[in-house]
Amino acid sequence: MHVIHTQNELIKTLKVLSNIAFVPTMGNLHEGHIKLIQEALKKTKHIVVSIFINPLQFNSKEDFKNYPRTLEKDLSMLKELDVPFVFVPSEEDILDPLQTIEIHLPRIANDLCGKFRPGHFNGVATIVCKLFTLIQPDIAFFGKKDFQQLFLIKALVKQLNYPIEIVEIDTVRDHDGLAKSSRNNLLSHEHRKKAPQLLHQLNAMKEKVIQKTSLFEEIEAHAVRTLNASGWTVDYLSIRSAQSLENPVHDENQIVILGAATLGSVRLIDNIEFCIHD
Ligand code: PAF
Repeated sequence: MHVIHTQNELIKTLKVLSNIAFVPTMGNLHEGHIKLIQEALKKTKHIVVSIFINPLQFNSKEDFKNYPRTLEKDLSMLKELDVPFVFVPSEEDILDPLQTIEIHLPRIANDLCGKFRPGHFNGVATIVCKLFTLIQPDIAFFGKKDFQQLFLIKALVKQLNYPIEIVEIDTVRDHDGLAKSSRNNLLSHEHRKKAPQLLHQLNAMKEKVIQKTSLFEEIEAHAVRTLNASGWTVDYLSIRSAQSLENPVHDENQIVILGAATLGSVRLIDNIEFCIHD
C-alpha cells in the first residue's frame, strides 16, 4: 500500500493510471467506509482513499479538535482491504491560507444541516473539488447516511461537468439500527444505548406519512417533542422530497425523512428513504 502525503507525489503516482475509483474520508474508518471501499473494489483495483479531517467543514474549533483521529488504525484497516493508494495530505499542502474562492451551492445547502452548520457544505464542496481535481477519478463513492451531502455532490458534479460517476451506497447500521458514524465513538455508554431512538422516531414518522394520519408539520412537531422529552436536542426532523430535498409537493411519492439531533455533545444525523405508494 502506497501512502501519499503530498499533492505532487499524488499527481506523479496517478498520472500513469486509468480507471480510478475514489473514496473520500475523514478517517476513523468504520463499516460504513469499508462498504464504500468494497463496492469500489468491485469496479477497479485502482482505488484511492483519502483521509483528511477538513477544517473548512467544521463550524466550531471544539468539534474539529474532538473529531476522532485514528490514522495508524485506519492505515492498517486499508492495508487489510488491499487498498493500493491512500492520500493523507497535510493542511498546508492541500489548503490555501487565503481560500477566497468558494463554490456557490444550490439554496438547499443552507437548509436542513446547512441551517444549523452555516458554511458546512461550502467547506465540503471546496475539499471535494480539490480532491476531484487532484485525483481525477472516473468514479467516486459516497454514503447515503449523509443524504444532503450526497445530493449536493451530485449537483456539483452535474453543474460543474466533472466527468465522474457518483455511486451512492446504503447506510450501514449497527445491530440496533444506529447508523455507523465516526461520531458514535464519542457517545457515552448511556447515550450509545439511547442513540437508536433517532432511527425509531424516523420510522414512526414514516408510518404516519404512509397512513396519512396527520399533516406533515404535525408529524414533525410531534417527533421533535418526543425526542426532546427523551433528553435529545433536536435540530430538525423533516419530511422532504427525495428528488429535490424541498418540501414534498402534492402527491409526491419518493420521500426522505432526515433528522439531526444531539445527545450530550454528540450530534448525530440519519435519514430514511421510501415511497408512499409502491
Ligand atoms: O463525508 C465525509 O467524510 C466528508 O464530508 C468528506 C466527503 C470526506 C469531505 O471532507
